[in-house]
Amino acid sequence: MARAQSRYVCQSCGASVLRWEGQCRTCGEWNTLVETVVRETPRANSRSVVTAGADPVPLTHAGEADAEVRRPVGIGELDRVLGGGLVAGSLVLLGGEPGIGKSTLLLQVAAGVAAAGGEILYATGEESATQVRLRASRLGLTGAPVGDAIRVVAETGVGRITELARGARPALLVVDSVQTVASEELDGPPGSVGQVREATLRLMELAKADDIPVVLVGHVTKDGTLAGPKTLEHLVDVVLAIEGDRTGGLRLLRASKNRYGSTEEVGVFEMGDRGLTEVADPARAFLAEHDAPAPGSVVAPILEGSRPLLVEVQALVAPTSAPSPRRTASGVDPNRLALLVAVLGRRAGIALGSHDVYANLAGGLSVTEPGLDLPLALALASSLRDRPLVAGTVAIGEVGLLGELRGVGGLDRRLREAARLGFSRAVVPRSRGRGDSRLPGLDLVEVGSLADAIRVSLAGALT
Ligand code: TYD
Ligand code: MG
Repeated sequence: MARAQSRYVCQSCGASVLRWEGQCRTCGEWNTLVETVVRETPRANSRSVVTAGADPVPLTHAGEADAEVRRPVGIGELDRVLGGGLVAGSLVLLGGEPGIGKSTLLLQVAAGVAAAGGEILYATGEESATQVRLRASRLGLTGAPVGDAIRVVAETGVGRITELARGARPALLVVDSVQTVASEELDGPPGSVGQVREATLRLMELAKADDIPVVLVGHVTKDGTLAGPKTLEHLVDVVLAIEGDRTGGLRLLRASKNRYGSTEEVGVFEMGDRGLTEVADPARAFLAEHDAPAPGSVVAPILEGSRPLLVEVQALVAPTSAPSPRRTASGVDPNRLALLVAVLGRRAGIALGSHDVYANLAGGLSVTEPGLDLPLALALASSLRDRPLVAGTVAIGEVGLLGELRGVGGLDRRLREAARLGFSRAVVPRSRGRGDSRLPGLDLVEVGSLADAIRVSLAGALT
């Protein structure tokens, strides 16, 4: 008979201790220990996930027997992010806010795998089988060959799910979501750290032992991290995230971890009436349409991995008499915004000390690359002076504390994309020793300081 025991499990890192403490000794978080009843039954298969008792082999021959098998999922943008398709035996975690399109994407993935002749087991703990069917019919996926190859089961017991998968040996197992499944052997509620961790481990064993690719849906918390223990991300092979503005149509798919490929690629989708579709020209997808150049708007040729995207940085500054003016950033780093406001004031004569400042990226995108400094600073200057940028201008570059500009990587690729989309002028940091990035039709304006960049960028200014 199993013995009931109580442990205090850290909801942040998954460490467990016998007594309650205010701070977790393992990860240092405060107030994260929650009492959890653990009924430890001896696990029949408590072997290691890799393989028990393996002998060392020379690296040149390691794993030769089981060469990596990839199965494209039939959605180009997703295959690109995965590095060519789903690897047999891999465990993929797909995160994203509620309503962003995780279930939709996975149903489309299931259809793609089914179209290639594979069977899919779709375990849903969030929705009933009927709800999944309704979504599938909305997506036009209930037709005979595809609809028949996708088996839906409304099940939350991880034991039952793995049993079904061992029996059916599907080409893909989808578990939507990891926060709703639970192991019968643990007493904690679904979604608690112990359960999420246990469910993931069990599905991992299934993936590795039976070579079934498993995709788990994971929720994210308000601050944008995956709910559940942080260790979840260490356990799985691939961590994907869907981002975007839920009210807008664009979605960005990124890999923050990929044991089988690069984390450099992003996929761009649009949510429409019939689910997520791939965007034909991602480079221009995030550009807002304007009739005329608007003050406070600057287009930046950013690089997402190896993919150049043109994004619009928007800024609005408004006078205020409040003692501490607002600095509101969405899609850009608030610390960077604060720093640029300071540099603009001290080094470029753009005083924003008595102005509220709002900065935003169009299309719900969120970008951390330092090259966004210059376009952001120019957008602020343009808004304050109420003068738009010279028509057809893009800008990119990092701004230093002295107001000096620093170059960015992959400038050629960025500028080529800007030229292709019809931009005629690029304001970039001056740099020595760089290859010639001049392109036909694109006027390259190299500047050394933020003050110079503002001078040459704003329309109607003396150049
Ligand atoms: P869903 O995949 O259920 O999100 P998640 O699983 O991440 O919570 O998608 C939810 C949203 O997507 C919902 O608000 C409706 C919208 N949607 C469309 O716009 N078009 C579609 O074809 C589908 C299926 C959903
Ligand atoms: Mg869902």
